[in-house]
Amino acid sequence: MLTSLPRHIGVIMDGNGRWAQLRGLPRVEGHRRGAERTKDIIKAAQEVGIEVLTLYAFSLENWQRPEEEVATLMELLHFYLTTEIADLLGKGIRFRMIGDREKLPFEIQQVIADTEEMTSSGKGLTLVTALSYGGRDEIVRAVRKALSRGLSPDEMDEEGFGMLLDTAGLPPVDLIIRTSGEKRLSNFLLWQGAYAELYFTETLWPDFSKEEFLFAIQDYQRRERRFGTVTPSLRLQ
Ligand code: IPE
Ligand code: IPE
Ligand code: MG
Repeated sequence: MLTSLPRHIGVIMDGNGRWAQLRGLPRVEGHRRGAERTKDIIKAAQEVGIEVLTLYAFSLENWQRPEEEVATLMELLHFYLTTEIADLLGKGIRFRMIGDREKLPFEIQQVIADTEEMTSSGKGLTLVTALSYGGRDEIVRAVRKALSRGLSPDEMDEEGFGMLLDTAGLPPVDLIIRTSGEKRLSNFLLWQGAYAELYFTETLWPDFSKEEFLFAIQDYQRRERRFGTVTPSLRLQ
């Protein structure tokens, strides 16, 4: 029996630097090619009928990279948001950002806020960009919110806490894909991915195709999710 489609897919888009290095190109060229790839995957997610696609574009830890690389990544982001907005609107895509937005350059914060507002009534795919994002940081910011609102211990439960996270209102992530052969989460969706299925591939992000994305979804559909219960086949006996 096939599991139904994942409602929420998260992607750790890794391997841009190695892709460029293998070709004797500067790392930033890998980021440029990676950004192009992102468009195909967003399109495929929408065609398949995925509800939420969360793309890990820049982690909190990535701020420690060389200034030039960080600046190019910010420029790319600004460029894509301003040039792709018409396309997002046309396709009914709702854009949302998770992460510590106060650390981002002011003009990027503005473009993000404008894009979120302009696309807020989109009824299609919800496209979440994890930017300046760290799962631990998101949890700590949520705890701070709870304390500043004066919530008492009795008022706190998992559902309520989830509403204090950046992903408030989104379904938990069902499938996390990571490219480039690394098998770790690197601080991505720590709370939301508690029962996520994981798909790792050696493919570097700029080479990750629509076909492989669809393959990852099919692979997910063949898995048996248990959430800590007995296997469905045993349940029948
Ligand atoms: C992922 O590619 C993109 C970001 C982290 C912004 P990398 O830049 O991490 O590529 P590798 O891991 O060095 O190959
Ligand atoms: C994770 O990749 C972050 C993104 C893809 C945006 P990294 O390349 O930063 O992760 P590590 O350093 O290999 O764990
Ligand atoms: Mg990397």
